Amino acid sequence: LKADALARIDSAPDAAALEALRVAFLGKQGTISALMKTLGGMSPEERQAEGPKIQGLRADVADALAAKKEALEGAELEARLASETLDLTLPAPASPKGSVHPVSQVMDELAEIFADLGFSVATGPEIEDDWHNFTALNMAETHPARAMHDTFYFPDVDAEGRRMLLRTHTSPVQIRSMVEQGAPIRIIAPGRVYRSDSDATHTPMFHQIEGLVIDKGIHLGHLKWTLETFLKAFFEREDIVLRLRPSYFPFTEPSVEVDVGWQDVGGRRVLGGDGDAPGHGWMELLGSGVVNRRVIEFAGLDPDVWQGFAFGVGVDRLAMLKYGMDDLRAFFDGDGRWLSHYGFSP
Ligand code: PHE
Repeated sequence: LKADALARIDSAPDAAALEALRVAFLGKQGTISALMKTLGGMSPEERQAEGPKIQGLRADVADALAAKKEALEGAELEARLASETLDLTLPAPASPKGSVHPVSQVMDELAEIFADLGFSVATGPEIEDDWHNFTALNMAETHPARAMHDTFYFPDVDAEGRRMLLRTHTSPVQIRSMVEQGAPIRIIAPGRVYRSDSDATHTPMFHQIEGLVIDKGIHLGHLKWTLETFLKAFFEREDIVLRLRPSYFPFTEPSVEVDVGWQDVGGRRVLGGDGDAPGHGWMELLGSGVVNRRVIEFAGLDPDVWQGFAFGVGVDRLAMLKYGMDDLRAFFDGDGRWLSHYGFSP
């Protein structure tokens, strides 16, 4: 019986077969359990002779079952390890990662370019009051230029009786900088601005960057050099040519509209070159001028001591020109396909 039991245990193929053998030998109805029960009916002499044999048989079978169980579990682990090997040399699956939005990217680039010219970055509130957005910029209540701004006004005046609005340009940051830090000043102010306007080239929210320099003896020549230097750096072209056109803004005098020359390259307009050359042209880029002395006064500085220049440029427009994008609205749709088309990731 013992040899047969041990042989069957040794050849059990798996855990289930082994458990069946344990029940068959040692279970309540098992053969060895039955042998144990026969001890009760024996004479003391018989029991003394048979008892140790049966006990020994039971212990050997139990040991064999335990040993086989361990062996089977070991083999199972081996098999699992063999089938689950990890190949650490395989390339990892691509994980999608986003990138900076073109508008933010352009604002970062501009901050960097102007930092090299000694400008720091200033900010102001998007919910602005009428005085900073208009009055202090030489646009009194009745000034006709106010009508050109399609302003979003808040319905009520605030606790101090101020009329609040969504700023229509970044120019109020000029006033805030002069009032808060005095002169001299060399800042740019990037940010969101709002006008009630919407078509392929206008969105109710867009981005501008304001530039302001206040110092002694500042004149148009400083403005022209600064704009040329910044645009050459931004468009990464030495052949950028500017045309300064007389214009009108209430807060600058004289006011200058700045155009940039473009040329036709295989049916595409590429910035660079003299816009007056055959096949070339001019594109309107930004507004600027010498800070109106009335504005310097409004901000609490003495215009006989301090002069300055200012400019304002559309950031979204700069991004479109640099990356060849043609629909302004797409900037704010959050469509990943549009971003990837222009080499940005969603
Ligand atoms: N604020 C003007 C605009 O939004 C631009 C500008 C800024 C013009 C500074 C002159 C000087 O159109």
